[in-house]
Amino acid sequence: MSLQAKKRADYLPPAFTINDVKMDVQLHPTCTRVTSEYQVERMGNHGHALTLDGDNLTLREVCIDGQPYTDYEQTDSSLVICNVADDFSLKLVTEIDPEHNQALEGLYLSAGTYCTQCEAEGFRRITYYLDRPDVLARFEVTLHGDKQHYPTLLANGNPIARGDHDDGTHWVTWQDPHPKPAYLFALVAGDFDLLEDSYTTTSGKPVKLELYVDKGKRDQGVFALESLKRAMKWDEDTFGLEYDLDIYMIVAVDFFNMGAMENKGLNIFNSKFVLADQDSATDEDFFNVESVIAHEYFHNWTGNRVTCRDWFQLSLKEGLTVFRDQQFSADMTSPLSNRIKHVRVMREHQFAEDASAMSHPIRPEEVIEMNNFYTVTVYDKGAEVIRMFHTLLGPEKFREGMDEYFRRHDGQAVTCDDFVAAMQSVTDLNLGHFALWYSQSGTPVIEVTTSYDPQTRRMDITFSQHTAPTADQKDKASLFMPVAFDCIDSAGNHYTDDDGQVRDGMFILDTAAKTLHFSDVPEPLIPVVLGNFSAPAKVENSLSAEQLLAVFQYANDTFNRWDALQSLYDWCIHQYELENQAAVDATIWQGLEQVITRESHNHELLGECLVIPSFETLCQSRQLVEVAALNTARSQFCRDFAQRLHGPLETLFKTLETGPYQYTQTAINARRCRNVVLNHLACAGDADKLLNQQFEQADNMTDSLGALKAAQGHSPSVFESLMSRFEQRWNHDPLVLDKWFGLHATTERTDILSQLSLLQQHPRFAKGNPNRVRAVIGSFAFFNTAGFHAPDGSGYQFVTDYLLKLDAVNPQVAARIVTPLTQWHNFAPDYQLLMKAQLERIANHKGLSGDLYEKVSKSLA
Ligand code: ARG
Ligand code: ZN
Repeated sequence: MSLQAKKRADYLPPAFTINDVKMDVQLHPTCTRVTSEYQVERMGNHGHALTLDGDNLTLREVCIDGQPYTDYEQTDSSLVICNVADDFSLKLVTEIDPEHNQALEGLYLSAGTYCTQCEAEGFRRITYYLDRPDVLARFEVTLHGDKQHYPTLLANGNPIARGDHDDGTHWVTWQDPHPKPAYLFALVAGDFDLLEDSYTTTSGKPVKLELYVDKGKRDQGVFALESLKRAMKWDEDTFGLEYDLDIYMIVAVDFFNMGAMENKGLNIFNSKFVLADQDSATDEDFFNVESVIAHEYFHNWTGNRVTCRDWFQLSLKEGLTVFRDQQFSADMTSPLSNRIKHVRVMREHQFAEDASAMSHPIRPEEVIEMNNFYTVTVYDKGAEVIRMFHTLLGPEKFREGMDEYFRRHDGQAVTCDDFVAAMQSVTDLNLGHFALWYSQSGTPVIEVTTSYDPQTRRMDITFSQHTAPTADQKDKASLFMPVAFDCIDSAGNHYTDDDGQVRDGMFILDTAAKTLHFSDVPEPLIPVVLGNFSAPAKVENSLSAEQLLAVFQYANDTFNRWDALQSLYDWCIHQYELENQAAVDATIWQGLEQVITRESHNHELLGECLVIPSFETLCQSRQLVEVAALNTARSQFCRDFAQRLHGPLETLFKTLETGPYQYTQTAINARRCRNVVLNHLACAGDADKLLNQQFEQADNMTDSLGALKAAQGHSPSVFESLMSRFEQRWNHDPLVLDKWFGLHATTERTDILSQLSLLQQHPRFAKGNPNRVRAVIGSFAFFNTAGFHAPDGSGYQFVTDYLLKLDAVNPQVAARIVTPLTQWHNFAPDYQLLMKAQLERIANHKGLSGDLYEKVSKSLA
């Protein structure tokens, strides 16, 4: 493990390339033998040796052009082959130990199934290779394995030959016609239930679809397969992109570090994002399955056909593919709740990352461990940047730009600059300034100030932007931002600016400040800013409670309406923090009551608007957060909200009879609204009967879990009894039990740490399974505010103790869960000290992984 940072600016093209790969893999739990043959070609005029990447490999043989070769050197992380010709064939034999590979990178065993994870740099744990995304080769792979235990042997592309050996093993050869980087390599061997289907592309090409799941789980795979077909159709309709192989395979495995992986023709998924049915999956689970299935499918063009030149360009494929899956989900479900969902991710997680020591631009400049950069910044802020292209260019020009991108770069490994250039080629807009989003980190703040002169009836609205210095970058420039804008008065009339800077509800903020002028205005106007979250920025727009309620009532943009209430709640909670509860007066409660009564038919809007901002979101509008005080203020406000609005909430609840389960948008909206309201009713007290009833009568997981969540914070005895029934019912299915683990781990209670220890002793807990670890330890660290931030530091210490053990097993997962500790900057000094003390412990730990080292050392710097 190298602790040396690599810099984007140091990119050099590869000295050699590999054009063809033949691999022969003899599967064995502890000694898998990999024989690889490469056609190697020198690139350019130089005399360098050939340096291949390798990690944790036992080298058995090196041959060049068929002859044993000895002129090589091995290091911890490489094989250097000296004095090679310009063109030659290289044969290597290596041995690996999948059974003891608990890092789940490279080839490993997932509950008895062989599978691989090679992105970003896992292929080098299978064999020595030029393990970088700008080396593209054609692969032919033969797998040998025990026929009884591993009847299914899969790799990328199409199967071209198979046969039996005499010793009870069999073999299959797979050929992938598309040259690909090694990170898209995959193999799988196991014994599955298979769901089969087919799809015919617009141009009439038939594609076989195969979904492999654990035995007995076939019914839980149906939804994923349907989602895949919807995604295939959508990409043809929206971007004219068709699938390019004869067969598309998806395999669900139980041990997986991330969500899923887009290996060419052979996606491997965390079973969490495949398996779903009415009994075991919530509406949100269904949503996630569909969006991850689509995400990986969309990568076939944005990622596989056009890939990244180097890993600093990760957002080239991830930001773009997340944007594509968001658009798909919006089309399949509903634009509003999708947008709100993604804005929550930005505000709760990405803004926090950008304000922390891990702050980086969507195209990072410096990386020690690439796995640390699969971040909300690269993915979600990256998607926001693509969305701004879409907003600025409009859907037609955006599509033209995409067509041009594929026309120029199909089959290549390219950079973010290449993407911008393709977009630039279809527009007169100068994208030079806009491209700063790729290199500047941090969250811009748009400050809105107004001045009104009653004499002249003129109004000025000034927008100024600034981005605070971040850990990685001191100097910030003004960004180029599309700002969706609307302007209303207290009666709901809309106004246009004198100079027509606002066009189609949008203006460009590309300087430090810009002023819009309005004349003949009867009263101070209310600026409504950043409709649909048109740029990933924070807005400081000091509107009064009355004005926020007016925005909710009259604004054109539904996202703005929702956002106005979020700001109102934030303001109210702030009054509670100041012990100034009285400021939240009768007019506000009446206003909120009207929100409920006027919109009682709009379940989607209410289901979002009745959610009080999370602790994490509130942190983003505060500095040096006093955790306990903010948490208390928030809880008190929630209780008053529930009590003051009890009447209308109860009335609303009664209208929300959802009927037998259906996965339709109308039903999803109603269930969501109902469960949000149920939570308030439980918070007001006296809802035990309702909670029991809903749990009892639920014919689906959304409502069962809704009852549990509502009971969790408000009715301990109901919670205990329902939780034990849930455990009995789902004890056989760890994936479902993860919900139970997560609920226990996020419960506010004084003995939470002993609870967490008990959970780890639960027969279904497995410290080697990332889903279990995330459900227990991850949920606690990310979402148990009171427990994690216990004033005595015990929560931090608990997480640290756990991470030090986990790091030796699975550094990737450990480095994810350390995130909340690294975000100490935003908390009050007492908390900071305690958090840093634990980070120091990690930093001083012997044998620390590069993954943790990078995040912890940055955060202590
Ligand atoms: N490319 C995958 C996806 O976005 C994620 C792979 C993440 N790998 C990693 N080592 N962090 O779908
Ligand atoms: Zn992806």
